[in-house]
Order: sequence, then C-alpha cells, then structure tokens
Amino acid sequence: MTAVTRTPPTLEHPIRTLPVQTTTNRDASTSNQSQKPKMQGRIDIANLTQNNIGQLRKLNSVLFPVRFGEKWYKDVLKEDVKEICKYALFNDIPVGNICCRFEKSTTKDDSVNVHIMTLGCLAPYRRMGIATALLEYVLDHAAPGKKVEISDSFSDDTTKTAPTKPTAKPSTSKKEVKQTKSYTVAKIYLHVQTSNEEAKVFYEKNGFTEKERVEQYYKTGIEPRSAWLLEKE
Ligand SMILES: CC(C)(COP(=O)(O)OP(=O)(O)OC[C@H]1O[C@@H](n2cnc3c(N)ncnc32)[C@H](O)[C@@H]1OP(=O)(O)O)[C@@H](O)C(=O)NCCC(=O)NCCS
Repeated sequence: MTAVTRTPPTLEHPIRTLPVQTTTNRDASTSNQSQKPKMQGRIDIANLTQNNIGQLRKLNSVLFPVRFGEKWYKDVLKEDVKEICKYALFNDIPVGNICCRFEKSTTKDDSVNVHIMTLGCLAPYRRMGIATALLEYVLDHAAPGKKVEISDSFSDDTTKTAPTKPTAKPSTSKKEVKQTKSYTVAKIYLHVQTSNEEAKVFYEKNGFTEKERVEQYYKTGIEPRSAWLLEKE
C-alpha cells in the first residue's frame, strides 16, 4: 500500500491495542494460495460513534449481502451495546467490525442471548487474526455465563419500533439517570450463509457448533437463502 491514510479525527481513541504482528496474509478467498507480501501492523479495537458510523456503512456494504436500515445503525450506537459493537483498526484504518445485540432469553427472565449480527474483515486484511480479535473482545465482555449490565428499559425491541413519546420542552437542567439491571448471558449465536464455508470454519475454530440449517433464512434475492445457525453456550 502506498497511500497514507490518517485516522479520521472522529474515531475515538482505541481502547485496546493488540501486540504488533508480523503476519503473512494467507487469504484463502483468493484463487491461489500464493503468499502475499507480509503486512506489519497494529490491531486496535475501537468504538462506534455517531461521528464515525459512516465507516460502518461502508464496511458493511462490501462485507455482507444484506443491507441494514437506519434503525439498525441507530441501535448499534446505544450505550447498552457499546462493548459488543466495535471496529477493528489495522494501523488506524477501519478494516472490520463486529456488531451484536442482546436479546431476552425465552427460557429465563434474568438471561440474555448475544446475537452476532455482523462480524467481518475486509479481504486484504484477512487471516491476520482481526476477526478473532473482535470476537475475543466481545467474549471478554459477554461470553456465556458472564453478567452484563443492561438498562432496565431494555427489551428485545430491535425489530419493533418503540412508540414515540410526545416531546414537550427539551430538558436542559436534569441529567438523565439510567437504571441498569444485571443479566447472565445464556448463549452467543449467529447465522452464516451456507455458501460461506470459511466463516463456518472460523466460528467452529472459536468454539461454536452448528445447531440447525435454516432453509429460508435470507430473503428472496440473496442466494443461497439457507443459513447455518451456529451457537456457543
Ligand atoms: C470469516 C471472516 C470474518 C474471518 O476473518 P479473519 O480476520 O480472516 O479471521 P482470522 O484471521 O481471525 O481467522 C482465524 C482462524 O479462522 C479460520 N479461518 C478464517 N478464515 C478462513 C478461511 N478463509 N478458510 C479457512 N479457515 C479460515 C482459520 O483457522 C484462521 O486461523 P489461521 O489463519 O491461523 O489458519 C472473514 O473471512 C470475513 O470477513 N468474511 C466475510 C464476512 C463474513 O462472512 N462474516 C461471517 C458471517 S457474520
């Protein structure tokens, strides 16, 4: 790479820096297994913010066959999911992301499931441990068995639109006090398109197991429509 890309000023300070790596990019998605030049660099895990959310839109548009709506991009910025929605920066460049949400467990009142909605890394930066770093970050905070603090107004509303309260005057004096409640993570899960063997291998390497094959998981227009449901409990 010849171009020098500066970290956009809107990116928050990285919150975790992994050791410098000297890595051979062995991207299996390329047609041959020839070795690419070594890339040296630093992997950081960084926050999503209102100011850098455009980077997420760009990443997702090339990484995933599905498109996400405005509500989705609003939800990933919520305080509750701050530790489970992250960018990966390679030498300060956003090259990957993980975005998860909490969903109430149907079996226990005080349990939640973590749903990985996106986890991806741009092709030139694959096989360097970037997706692993993102997943490990989330597991450090929300692995099965861990306690997570979520606002008590939390509900599994990511697919519903909350009724809009009529707003009177904007409050200027009182600071909003947020109540939180402790939940135990029951499981972490995701769906992988059945054409995506590489991702399945990646997740299995990270302790996920296939629970079922969902035939019509993706909507018409996305081929194949089937997905594997992978879980870690
Ligand atoms: C799947 C994906 C996230 C992996 O990202 P990555 O940064 O390359 O993953 P890592 O470097 O952390 O890989 C860790 C291990 O997973 C396995 N793995 C990852 N990609 C693989 C591939 N293409 N083929 C075989 N094994 C693979 C390997 O065991 C690898 O370890 P190794 O490189 O030491 O052999 C990436 O290929 C991607 O972004 N794909 C497009 C988006 C996607 O499909 N996301 C998953 C559904 S949400």
